[in-house]
Amino acid sequence: MQGVTVIDHPLVQHKLTLMRKKDTSTKSFRQLLKEIGSLICYEVTRDLPLEDVEIETPLATIQAPTLAGKKLVFAPVLRSGMGMLEGMLELVPAARVAHVGLYRDPATLACVEYYFKAPGDIAERLVVIIDPMLATGNTAIAAADRLKEAGALQIRIACLLASPEGLSSFQSHHPDVPVWVAAVDERLNDHGYILPGLGDAGDRMYGTR
Ligand code: URA
Repeated sequence: MQGVTVIDHPLVQHKLTLMRKKDTSTKSFRQLLKEIGSLICYEVTRDLPLEDVEIETPLATIQAPTLAGKKLVFAPVLRSGMGMLEGMLELVPAARVAHVGLYRDPATLACVEYYFKAPGDIAERLVVIIDPMLATGNTAIAAADRLKEAGALQIRIACLLASPEGLSSFQSHHPDVPVWVAAVDERLNDHGYILPGLGDAGDRMYGTR
């Protein structure tokens, strides 16, 4: 699939399987989501540009690579995006964070915004949306719409699971936004949940069901 990277790394696949199990505790689920967040971040940032700077080692002065340009923006979609954010910030601690508060109206599955706060200079930064469950795709589409409205020009999206329907809807709305995901599942059920999936990621993270 063009524009979609499925992260088939064995550690990601193993951790995802543990997360899918219905008996996995809230504590373990949160820990695994954080760990997968770090691993997905590693893949999403694989091609970031580098520039050489002069440094002194204890033995010599050399030109050595560092990340070029402005710091990244991580844009977690609340709530479940927060679970992956922690792991991503461990790898890129200087990243800025744009919080995107959206919920799905359970009756219509449409997206409602309740919070948005992003850095003012978002246009100059690479923005990585964090939306673990790309189900209908509506939330991810609304998040990308909102970030573009705020000025974002360069956007990527990091997900844990996607449905084929959600992925294709997201790509048709935002063909310029590449997707990283750990697995593409079979389909959506009638309530907009991913099958076989892992249930409601926010509820499983916070024990709210
Ligand atoms: N959100 C979730 O947390 N899980 C799904 O399966 C779909 C949307």
